[in-house]
Amino acid sequence: MSSFHGFLPTGVMLFHSSPVIWKTHVAVWRAWRTLMTSLPSSAFRTSSGFCGSSDPSEEASSVSADKAPHTPVMLKEVLHYLDIQPAQVVLDMTFGGGGHTRAILKTAPKVTVLALDRDPTAFSLAQHLAKEHPGRVKPLLGRFSELETLLSNVNIKPGSIDAILLDAGCSSMQMDQAERGFSLSKDGPLDMRMDGERYPDMPCAADVVNTLDQQALASILTAYGEERHARKIASAIVEARRVSPITRTQQLAAVVAGAFPAFVLYARKDRLQRPAHVATKTFQALRIFVNDELNELHAGLNVAQAALKPGGRLCVITFHSLEDRLVKRFLRGEDLSNLDQYHFSPKKQGSRKERVVDEERDCKSACWFPVRRKVITPGKNDVLENPRGRSAKLRIALRC
Ligand SMILES: C[S@@+](CC[C@H](N)C(=O)[O-])C[C@H]1O[C@@H](n2cnc3c(N)ncnc32)[C@H](O)[C@@H]1O
Repeated sequence: MSSFHGFLPTGVMLFHSSPVIWKTHVAVWRAWRTLMTSLPSSAFRTSSGFCGSSDPSEEASSVSADKAPHTPVMLKEVLHYLDIQPAQVVLDMTFGGGGHTRAILKTAPKVTVLALDRDPTAFSLAQHLAKEHPGRVKPLLGRFSELETLLSNVNIKPGSIDAILLDAGCSSMQMDQAERGFSLSKDGPLDMRMDGERYPDMPCAADVVNTLDQQALASILTAYGEERHARKIASAIVEARRVSPITRTQQLAAVVAGAFPAFVLYARKDRLQRPAHVATKTFQALRIFVNDELNELHAGLNVAQAALKPGGRLCVITFHSLEDRLVKRFLRGEDLSNLDQYHFSPKKQGSRKERVVDEERDCKSACWFPVRRKVITPGKNDVLENPRGRSAKLRIALRC
């Protein structure tokens, strides 16, 4: 069970919960617990074959050793701002396909990289890379919320790391493997667990869509997908699962599409003005929820704060406004510890003057000095070369 840091949508009280939220949403929590305990173990997971489980080392070995299976986003900018010097210790908190790590290893001699990922396939890739660069790559398997322990297991002391990269979200490897269940366009089991089979009792996306009540589903879609039609989609899901469980990605896409007239199906546009499927935000919301991504991000930022040396650099890349808002406020020194709906309110309440006073107070208590106040986004050419990075936002700060 992951640790809790306080970011759940109203009315959703599930697996990643704190005692604080348990009190406020106890009814939904009870409903969920009742459902979970009444389900046969792993009802929508591996036992029934709904959610896939591929062998991570097999998956990793199908990836070429010298070619990164994920095009690293804003690589030039990351290398520039991390400003890595010879023999420094760098922590890549999101190894993924290893694109950033490979480049970091080349920037300066004798640099060592601690390479974390929660995905066993990414971990296997990091192990391959460690063999290619003896003594320079230390693969770590786990989540941000487990990182403090992982670092202490390998004798890394707090305040000893020179530079940290956190490139949030999921990797192309995860998106491209139909059996991982992240992709809307490839049919696969409705899984979406970044951890793969590491925690067999943790729910996958099929568990979520087949067991939660309509209100809880709508809350997830609103909070994590910023989906305006959340209630309509939640109702369509509940109707569809009465007929048969929703266990495949394309089945879910069809159910969501069925809630809209045909001409709306691709009426939404992404940032490149390309037609986006009407279920895109539903998939995003489920992925964030299943992987507890916002709590994990908050945990990751806290570990980074403790692990960096004074003057050490942190680069964080995010892919949607929920994440970026969290990073921005964290780096500003705001206390996010018990704000359960924190980033669901884009603006702080109060008058402009009050907000300025608040921000100034937060800045004084911040442990970070912003290297650039403004967020950095990919250039036009980068977006054309790597459309998946189109919504990336990079923030850089120095540890005070
Ligand atoms: C966008 S990819 C990183 C790509 C990588 N920078 C590269 O160049 O190949 C994000 C990776 O972070 C991992 N990840 C996401 N959340 C995590 C968490 N809470 N703890 C550890 N790893 C996480 C995912 O499994 C995924 O492999």
